Amino acid sequence: MRWRWIDTPDGSQTLVDDETGLTFRSRHGARTESQHVFVDGAQWPRAPGARWTVLEVGLGPGTNLVCTHRAAVACGAVLDYVAVERAPLPEAVFATGPAGALWPWVARALAVPGHAAEAAGHRLTVHVDDVAGLDLGAERFDAVYFDPFGPRDQPASWTAPVLAQVAAALRPQGRLLTYAASRAVKDGLRAAGLTVRSRPGAGGKRECTVGQKPARAV
Ligand SMILES: C[S@@+](CC[C@H](N)C(=O)[O-])C[C@H]1O[C@@H](n2cnc3c(N)ncnc32)[C@H](O)[C@@H]1O
Repeated sequence: MRWRWIDTPDGSQTLVDDETGLTFRSRHGARTESQHVFVDGAQWPRAPGARWTVLEVGLGPGTNLVCTHRAAVACGAVLDYVAVERAPLPEAVFATGPAGALWPWVARALAVPGHAAEAAGHRLTVHVDDVAGLDLGAERFDAVYFDPFGPRDQPASWTAPVLAQVAAALRPQGRLLTYAASRAVKDGLRAAGLTVRSRPGAGGKRECTVGQKPARAV
């Protein structure tokens, strides 16, 4: 099998792709990285009935999805999660990982790509496609989880046009979260019109990055 799960120090697992040598989440704590960089970074309103609209670039094995779903359920928020994934993982991999309990929902979303599958009021849509050039709409999302591996490994996923696309899909004051922290990434996010700041990192990284869309001019 091309993929294997490995244990990380916080008790969660991350996936290793032996063909590319890439790891899907930090080896130093997969769940900790998802929770800190993406879920906490988004600063979701923890109010019953709050609607959390997410665009994720790179669903992978769903660690961000399961952490966000858990946080939404815990406070009674309603999740509208749209993921773009050009190479969905097979059931034998996804269903045996940390987001395995969500597999039936993910499978229903994958069965009709681009259409929302509902589960207890939460919505999941998966576009099985490359994010580059995909119509993501304008000002739809409160948060973008930008997670297509790193710019060194997947440079075509981090181009100025892609960053401009995902920035356009953010609502005013919406946030783009990434564990990447290089100068080039920050410059790219600024060029896409976002205000950029660094936060302490997690999972063995010193920093991660938040790009925020300005408020709409009145
Ligand atoms: C780091 S993994 C995502 C981990 C996932 N977000 C999680 O929390 O478990 C990166 C994923 O991005 C996908 N990906 C990379 N570049 C992409 C692109 N240009 N368009 C769509 N998906 C892409 C890969 O196929 C891979 O599944």
